[in-house]
Amino acid sequence: MKNFLEAPYLIEMVRTTTNMYAHGWDERNGGNISLLLDEEQVADYVDTSAVIRTIPTGFKAPELDGKLFLVTGTGKYFKNVQYAPEVNLGLVRIVDGGETAELLWGFEDGGKFTSEFPAHMMSHVARLKVNPANRVVMHCHPANLLAMTYVHSLDEREFTRTLWQMCTECIVVFPEGVNVLPWMLCGTNEIGEATAEKMLTARLVVWSQHGIYGAGQDLDETFGLIETAEKAAEIYMKIAHLPRVNTITDEQFHLMEERFGVKGREGYLS
Ligand code: 13P
Ligand code: ZN
Repeated sequence: MKNFLEAPYLIEMVRTTTNMYAHGWDERNGGNISLLLDEEQVADYVDTSAVIRTIPTGFKAPELDGKLFLVTGTGKYFKNVQYAPEVNLGLVRIVDGGETAELLWGFEDGGKFTSEFPAHMMSHVARLKVNPANRVVMHCHPANLLAMTYVHSLDEREFTRTLWQMCTECIVVFPEGVNVLPWMLCGTNEIGEATAEKMLTARLVVWSQHGIYGAGQDLDETFGLIETAEKAAEIYMKIAHLPRVNTITDEQFHLMEERFGVKGREGYLS
């Protein structure tokens, strides 16, 4: 068996959590990531027939039966993942129609997957319906997006249009816009179901007064989505209290659509 700590995706997961912490998106234990892996990616590193322990999930997700996820642990600090991946991360296989996770590697201190596991797993189900190549769900607490949910309308069209207007390339990066949930109790199946529903129409879902969820084909795409939305929110928070003298017009957005071959969300541009 090869050393799991040397698997390219394990290394990328460690680098991503470290980088997210460095960006200030993951204070304390804030944030969580789940990465879908193929059996073939894992087979050289871990004996997938050796279950260390089983952990009940508290929800159903039959679509995920047999699927493997590398996931961050609940209560674990992103800043510490690089020093002890085997404690702060776990590799689990979903079984029993989603109701059980079999631990195959990690969580060595007896820990378990993130408290936001319902939102992660349900979002994977939703995104796989839209794009079978989706592998990543990422949650974090970027300050400017969070700040924006205190002072900006939570209407999804308005919220998206404001973000698009803050950086020319936003409409290229997330043409489908961002979806927004009102404040809800985190860590519950209810917020998981609501997030998954929103994930059917966008890869970014804002949790008001809490943070953001992103989904994508790989860690880079997902990180980049959140990074771009957060940059736009930062600019908004710099200018929101000032008179707006200039902006990006809808005509200019249409030029961007043509130039980059993207289409802004239906009904979001005039
Ligand atoms: P966990 O430590 O359980 O992953 O929770 C962090 C978080 O951001 C909850 O929303
Ligand atoms: Zn959170």
